[in-house]
Amino acid sequence: MSRFEDKVVLITGAASGIGAAAARRFAREGASVVVADLNAEAAAATAAAIREAGGKAVGLAVDVGNELQVGQAITSTVEKFGRLDVLVNNAGIGSFGRVDMLSTEEWRRVMAVDLDAVFFACRAALPHLAQVRGAIVSTASISGTAADYGFAAYNAAKAAVINLTRAIAIDHAGEGVRANSISPGYVVTPLTAPLQADDRIGEAYRQLIPLGRPSMPEEQAAAILFLASDDASYITGANLIVDGGLTAATGQPNFVRIFAGAN
Ligand SMILES: NC(=O)c1ccc[n+]([C@@H]2O[C@H](COP(=O)([O-])OP(=O)(O)OC[C@H]3O[C@@H](n4cnc5c(N)ncnc54)[C@H](O)[C@@H]3O)[C@@H](O)[C@H]2O)c1
Repeated sequence: MSRFEDKVVLITGAASGIGAAAARRFAREGASVVVADLNAEAAAATAAAIREAGGKAVGLAVDVGNELQVGQAITSTVEKFGRLDVLVNNAGIGSFGRVDMLSTEEWRRVMAVDLDAVFFACRAALPHLAQVRGAIVSTASISGTAADYGFAAYNAAKAAVINLTRAIAIDHAGEGVRANSISPGYVVTPLTAPLQADDRIGEAYRQLIPLGRPSMPEEQAAAILFLASDDASYITGANLIVDGGLTAATGQPNFVRIFAGAN
């Protein structure tokens, strides 16, 4: 497939995990990709690997929580490639803590990276996206629709990303810009390394996820590319859940398993 031939795509948090998988796939489908990340070395390495595989990519160091740097990232992308077709707001950090455990600094850090960044990037990108009838895809989370035990700041930030996406979708539809989010469930990336290292958590997820396994980053990337592509030309303001069925369940006990006598 070459859905993104001659298109320019900027992805934040693209040095690792879901963002890197999306960067590789966009490049495979013909796009010129700006691999933006706080980790400059890893961004350069991801971009270099894409070029070695025959794709077009450049690494770019940017702290998405910094308004000025985000603005510069958008400007330099348009200066270098002449246009911006797709913005993927993907950079994000996790944060453990209930409200009564969170410092003001931690709260602000999570809001800066997980939420402010999306506002900064969309605001800077919208005039350029409007010129080409482009698209925004933001990586939210199932943690933005319901709450997790001990993840208060992350829950708040991701919920805001989902609704900010809807606001942008309706406000800018008239300019031909589409905005959607994906909500991953449990994905095998460095972000979830502490969870992957704990067998109890692995077992709990196996019980909870109807598809019976975590997601690979490529499965999230596929959803991002779909929403960014012309295949999704009539989809805007959507939040696509990519969680193996986890949130399709109410959270009530698994009656089938219990009645069958299984654990
Ligand atoms: N892994 C999961 O299970 C999961 C589930 C739901 C949502 N998500 C979301 O997916 C997105 C990607 O996560 P991932 O799992 O691929 O994580 P990851 O840690 O593998 O990648 C995140 C990338 O973001 C970069 N980053 C962090 N802070 C940054 C900043 N201030 N400026 C620029 N870049 C920054 C990191 O350097 C890293 O390369 C995040 O928004 C995350 O919240 C992940």
